[in-house]
Amino acid sequence: MAARKSNRLRNEKTVALMDLQPDSRVLEIGCGPGLALSRCASVVTSGRVVGLDHSGVMIRQASSRLQSQGVVNRVELIKGGIDALAGWPQSFDRVFSLNVIQFQSDKLGFFRAAFDVLIPGGLCLTTYQPRLNADGSEAARRMITTIEEALHAVGFENISKTEIIGGATPAICVVGQKNDPHRS
Ligand SMILES: C[S@@+](CC[C@H](N)C(=O)[O-])C[C@H]1O[C@@H](n2cnc3c(N)ncnc32)[C@H](O)[C@@H]1O
Repeated sequence: MAARKSNRLRNEKTVALMDLQPDSRVLEIGCGPGLALSRCASVVTSGRVVGLDHSGVMIRQASSRLQSQGVVNRVELIKGGIDALAGWPQSFDRVFSLNVIQFQSDKLGFFRAAFDVLIPGGLCLTTYQPRLNADGSEAARRMITTIEEALHAVGFENISKTEIIGGATPAICVVGQKNDPHRS
């Protein structure tokens, strides 16, 4: 999974969209082999980087990648599904996922879990890129509409989308913001 060029590019461009700072607090749901986490950890030096995945194999792959890049101490890896987030405080300014949403039968539950751990004003980023042999841009458009509707239903605001990779199987990132009652 980590070896594919399209995967690397999708991870790289999604992380670039987050505008991370050294003190950012960022959570990736479904971190897989840790491509995005290693990029996050290269920027976030005093904040917090957490990767969650329900596959032990993926957590191990992510751990060795981070180890080989010398940033394993900057990342918390957690084996578990979104249920593992229940009861966590609102503490992240970015929560993101890449090619994970298509596997969620309860998409509202997925976005609610992200909403609940974000601080007010925090951003939820969801990237989707169909597989090469799928029906490409049409599949992407359908999924993006589903994501936008689910984000809206959960209460995210300022929803926007960016095509981060163009072509026949585009990668699109949808961003939603948690309302900050202290800002007009
Ligand atoms: C297609 S892979 C994408 C991996 C990585 N985000 C990337 O783009 O390189 C999907 C990953 O999400 C994980 N996953 C799917 N649903 C999940 C859930 N509900 N909670 C935690 N991990 C999940 C899978 O185990 C897998 O590692």
